Order: sequence, then structure tokens, then C-alpha cells
Amino acid sequence: MNKQFFIKTFGCQMNVADSERISVLLTEQGMTLASCPENAQVIIINGCTVREKAVHKAISTLGEFQFLKETKDPTLKPWIGIGGCVGQLDKKKLFKKAPYLDFVFGTDTIDHLPEILHRVKSGERHVVYADFDPSMNYSTETKVYGDQAQAFVNIMKGCDKYCTYCIVPYTRGKEKSRTIDEVLDDIARLVELGVREVTLLGQNVNSFGKGNANTKNREPGELQNIIGKVGPRAGEENFPQLLRAMDEDPRLKDLKRIRFTSSHPLDFSDELIQCYAPLDQGGISKLARHLHLPVQSGSNAVLKKMGRHHQIETYISQMDRLRQLSPEVGLSTDLIVGFPSETEEDFKQTLALLDRIQFDNIYAFAYSERPGTRASQLEDTVSESQKKERLQTVLKYQLAIAEKRYASRIGKVMEVLVEGEAKNQRMMDSSLSVNDKDWHKVWTGKTTCHRVVNFIWTSPRNILGKLINVKIIGATGLALQGQVVNEELR
Ligand code: SAM
Ligand code: SF4
Ligand code: F3S
Repeated sequence: MNKQFFIKTFGCQMNVADSERISVLLTEQGMTLASCPENAQVIIINGCTVREKAVHKAISTLGEFQFLKETKDPTLKPWIGIGGCVGQLDKKKLFKKAPYLDFVFGTDTIDHLPEILHRVKSGERHVVYADFDPSMNYSTETKVYGDQAQAFVNIMKGCDKYCTYCIVPYTRGKEKSRTIDEVLDDIARLVELGVREVTLLGQNVNSFGKGNANTKNREPGELQNIIGKVGPRAGEENFPQLLRAMDEDPRLKDLKRIRFTSSHPLDFSDELIQCYAPLDQGGISKLARHLHLPVQSGSNAVLKKMGRHHQIETYISQMDRLRQLSPEVGLSTDLIVGFPSETEEDFKQTLALLDRIQFDNIYAFAYSERPGTRASQLEDTVSESQKKERLQTVLKYQLAIAEKRYASRIGKVMEVLVEGEAKNQRMMDSSLSVNDKDWHKVWTGKTTCHRVVNFIWTSPRNILGKLINVKIIGATGLALQGQVVNEELR
């Protein structure tokens, strides 16, 4: 029997990490990854619902696979399933949209996939596993697919913030954290497998600790008070403690960098800012000097309507304090434009924030109404064309800032953690004379401040997961081009 599977992933790193977990689970069942859907016995769409467009993409991709079901040969007919945030939210409603679907699973039922497939294989149709896991605590083991120097590690799941526009609390459930001990054991195992950089994942990793097996569970009434407020109580396990424990654990000595995403300004504590200090002032050496801290808008009036519970002035002082401690820190953020009632003046305040902070990178989105959220009750006062226009304006505005910031790196030597060969890229070695110039394979990696650096590497030595010094010789608003300074690897 055909034992191949194919996965198409949409959405954030959370879904990317989940797809990796699915791949490992299916591999453990004796299956292999197919290069195209036509070759697969099992086709899975891991979908996102954060914006309407994302849902459309998942459903139309599903439509593209429908013809594979129409083959006359039953041994070639694939089983098709949809999961992730789309599965969690829409559950069996998806069979109405796509009756040819065989199964639906959610964000909390991935580990049940072998069971789901067993039922489908036995002839059951329309199998649904999309309830949230009712257990109080969160425990898991990270699964990595293939040889890689980088791994995503879920340290908490869910979101209790309930920003008014956002569907994620409904697709990922309540916040639950793993314990520090469990995360350390998990990462120690990954380091033995060759992982050299981990990205700690969660919707609000900086509220890590709240609701783990070592903390007292909150009463329902108390939980109500926490929504939109801070993470663990004083004295409970928290995120800076996890970072310090990772830095100090001897089993993690070969781990070179720690990254994390995403965080909320409300939980971005002084204790966490202090982790970015120089090493002689209590900073954490392995912590990458980069922060992704979504701000969403530069206008306090809009932030209030978004239910973000933070103010622009606090955000700016957090960033100032961070830059004081770590002047080279790379900063990125998320922005929504065209939120209901956003005026031209509010939008200008967002542009002013970009000038003030000088982010290296932004992820900007046009507001998309999500049914069931509080913002969906607000009158959508910004027209679709205004939203599009504001989105284009903000992206163009930021590109000019990023180009300047990236160009200022030219001539500097930066330490790059090598991630692999850059796909479909070739570069010329500018240090050679014109006659010797040739197109070379390009390798890619990131600096501690999260800038992508592409560089030529011709030696046969494997540099995956190594730190290498690269001199920056060119820049665009998206990436840097570099030249290896010497072949010394760490
Ligand atoms: N938990 C993270 C946070 O608080 O920033 C990430 C949340 S979400 C997966 C990623 C981004 O999508 C958000 O930061 C926000 O900018 C954007 N987003 C969420 N809901 C949206 C909506 N209804 N319309 C447009 N963008 C949205
Ligand atoms: Fe959504 Fe807000 Fe939670 Fe982020 S913090 S996932 S934007 S509700
Ligand atoms: Fe999308 Fe779910 Fe992530 S809605 S952005 S895949 S948490």
C-alpha cells in the first residue's frame, strides 16, 4: 500500500511546529513524506483562521485536492483531512463545505492522528477529533523532523488575553505552561540530536509559568481578573527564570542561541528586559539580542478598543530601556491597520511610532473581521480600499527605515549561526578579480539580532549549526550579503 503523506501548512510558527510534529508522528507509523500530493495516501491541510483570507486559502487548497478523490482506482484515492486552527474552530461544519473530506482534527488533538487514520482506514467517514484537552497541565515532548540545527519548542499554549479582534483564544484554548524542569529535559535531548538554536514558542511566552504543574491552579473567579493582565504570580515559575535555567544547565552547553516568540507588552517585565543586559551586568549569554514585541497600533485610542491593555508611552519606554542595555538589539513588531474607528490621525500615530522606534522589521496586516470576536460587534468604519492603502503606506514607510538600518551594517563583522544552503540562490565572489568571478552556492544564517545573512561557502566542510564570522558587504531592506572572514567555526 502507498505509505506516503503530504502536508500543506498555513499560519504562524505554531502551525509550522505542529506540522513538524505531524510529520514525525506519521513517520513513526512507517510513512514517508511525499514530494507532491498526487503521490500521497494521506493529505493534510494544517490551516489558519487568523484572518478571513487565511481561511479562504485553506478551503481553496482543499478544493485543489478534490480531483484526487475522483480517481477510479480505490488504491490511489487519498484520505484527506484538515486540522490546525481551522479544524479547531469549524469542526464538523467543514464537511458541509467539503463533503469529500475524511477527517478533521484540532490544535489539541494532533497526537491522536494515528488513531484518526486507523478509523478512516477501517472505513469510517467524517471522523472529528477537535475538542480541547481537558487536563489542567500541559506536558509534551518536542519532535523534530530530519537533521536540523534549529528547533521550535512549545513552552506554553493557548491565550488568555482576548484582544478584541483576535480569534486565537478560541482556536488555541486557555493558557497552560510546561514546567521549567520538563522544558530543560526536552531541550537537553534536542541538543544531543544536534540542535544548536531553539525558539521558545507560545502566544505569550512571557506569561510562561501561569497554570503549570508546579503552580497553584486559579479559581474561576480569579481567572476572570487575570484576563488581559499579567502571567504567573510572584514566587511562581516565570519566563526569565526559564531563560536563566537554560543558560546555566550544563547539558545545554552546546546550545548556542535561545529565541522566543511571541510576547505581549503587558508581560514584558523589567526582569525580562534585564536578561538582555551585557554579561557583566547580569545578561544571559545565549539569549539572542532580538525581540519581537507586537504593538498593533501607535494610537492609544485604537489600542484601547483593541483591548490590548497597554499604552504607547509604556511600550516606548520598554524599548528605550532595552536599547540602553543592548544597543544592537534587533526589534520587530506586528501591526494592524484599518481597525474599526481608526482615523487618519490614529494611522499617522502608527507611522510616527515606526519613526520613533526604528524597527528592523514589521509584520503588518489589514484588519479582518473575525466572527465571534468582540471587535466584530463594532461598526467597520474603514473601507476596504482605505485599509489596503494604509497597508501599502505602512509597508513602504517601514521598508525605507529597514533599508537604512540594514545599510548601516555594511563593513561590520557579524557572527552568523548557519541554517543551511539558501534555496535557489547563487552569488558572485566580489573579492575575486573580474576574470575569476564565478557563481557560487549561497549559504544562509542569522545574526543574533535576527538579520538574515547570505554568504558564499565553497569548502566541503559541513557548517550547519556552526557560528561563523561574516563581513557584511551588501544590504537590502530584507537581507544582508556577507563574506566569510575566516574559516574558524564555533
Ligand atoms: N500572540 C501574538 C500577539 O499577541 O501578538 C500573535 C498573535 S496572531 C497569531 C499574529 C498577528 O496577527 C497579531 O499580532 C496581529 O497583528 C494579527 N492579527 C490577529 N487578528 C487579526 C485580525 N482579526 N485582523 C488582522 N490581523 C490580525
Ligand atoms: Fe491574539 Fe491578543 Fe492573544 Fe495575541 S495576545 S494571540 S493578538 S488575543
Ligand atoms: Fe493562525 Fe492559529 Fe497561528 S489562527 S496565526 S495558525 S495560532
